[in-house]
Amino acid sequence: MYDLIILGGGPAGHVAAEHAGKAGLSTLLIEKNHLGGVCLNEGCIPSKTLLHCVKLFTQAKASETFGVRTTGASFDLAAVMARKRKIVETLRNGIAHTLSKSKVETVSGSAMIRESGNGVFKVSAAGRDFEAQRLLICTGSEAIRLAVPGAQQEFVMTNREILSITSIPATITVIGAGAIGLEFASFFAEAGSGVSVVELLPTVGGRIDKDIANGLRRELEKKGIAFYVQSTVTAIGDRSVSFDADGKTTSVPANAVLMSVGRKPAITGFGLETLGVSVDKGAIVTDERCRTTVQGVWAAGDVNGVSMLAHTAFREARVCIDDMLGKQAHVNYDAIPSVIYTHPEAAAVGLTRDEAAARGFTPVEARLPLTFNGRYLAETEGERGAIRVVADANGRRLLGVHMLGGNCSELIFGAAAMIERGLTVEDVSKIVFPHPTISEILWDAVARLG
Ligand code: NAI
Repeated sequence: MYDLIILGGGPAGHVAAEHAGKAGLSTLLIEKNHLGGVCLNEGCIPSKTLLHCVKLFTQAKASETFGVRTTGASFDLAAVMARKRKIVETLRNGIAHTLSKSKVETVSGSAMIRESGNGVFKVSAAGRDFEAQRLLICTGSEAIRLAVPGAQQEFVMTNREILSITSIPATITVIGAGAIGLEFASFFAEAGSGVSVVELLPTVGGRIDKDIANGLRRELEKKGIAFYVQSTVTAIGDRSVSFDADGKTTSVPANAVLMSVGRKPAITGFGLETLGVSVDKGAIVTDERCRTTVQGVWAAGDVNGVSMLAHTAFREARVCIDDMLGKQAHVNYDAIPSVIYTHPEAAAVGLTRDEAAARGFTPVEARLPLTFNGRYLAETEGERGAIRVVADANGRRLLGVHMLGGNCSELIFGAAAMIERGLTVEDVSKIVFPHPTISEILWDAVARLG
């Protein structure tokens, strides 16, 4: 009898297992594929590896602008993919090692929940039966595939297949301009493909601030990416994608197609129905402690559909184990940063001005171009980064920070810390930022809030 059985070894599952094991809970983790889940094996880490390599290629080609001459820069996809595989393997081994050091047992196989009753959960995997007092469901999510004619053709890929391509396609059409779509559009444009992006909504980048989204679109257009917004894909033909916009049908060429129209929680195939937990819009319903509606069952990560980001999963994982241990813990979903790792990057945390107004705050906002910042100017050519900060006029609390430019992913955690801790404009003004750094732009923007 285990204290805890965890289904799924992605960001939520393996972090929860480590935390539980270290806290002394006898823990079993069941994973059917590789440890690390989608994030490590077919998401965050491989895509960031590819994006970094192509960024170096772009910088090498543009180095003359900085007074550095290079000749014959080329992009060796096979070498890039080999490096990606090595990095993924290193990190997978790291997770396995951490779990064993944390005294977590792992089983490789598909878990099936068989029975629950009298506070005991029975699960089978790899031909064996296991029992536990608690269950944590971390089965993640899967890519949505549009049911349009032609969608089953081999050159129509999701984030999984696209990460194993063996050549850079002459043309690629990306369906859906969310984080996955924009990151791959950025990668393929820099690697030399002709890229079209077809998006249903009027703006790109999902929930991000609309000015930042428009700035990002302009930067990506400079790389040659063609955007078609407010467009509904109707069919995928033989190396083409057709869509309707404004009552007209248009076709764009597509030697490859990336389907990046969102992901859905993985809630079938492992006996979830046995438990009777509530499910809403295809996701397991959880509260801010990641409890489901059934006692003894928690759910963390993409499967609860709340935020679908690896770092949200990390936090949820720790919160549910703390909750099992009787500690006070909850997830503050308002202080979770989000990043689109395009070149340039877009990063944000907290509320936009409109969201703040909708929540009853009296928002005040300041905007600055990043060209205001010395370090940014020293290191960047031909890019127009920006920052927007939002605070509440009453109480002066910082509510949101939204950025475009450079590697802003690396500095958004500072803004997340400010928002998580409820800092005011005055609190932030007392923080000393190192000079010269791009992070100073946050101080400058907040200072403009008066
Ligand atoms: P998404 O939900 O972020 O974006 C999907 C986009 O597709 C939306 O803009 C939507 O309007 C559009 N769309 C939907 N149906 C469409 C249609 N029929 N035709 C054209 N456009 C259509 O989903 P995405 O980018 O696939 O990412 C999946 C999940 O993975 C998200 O939750 C995302 O946050 C997460 N993720 C996060 C990353 C990051 O934080 N950098 C990177 C990769 C994934």
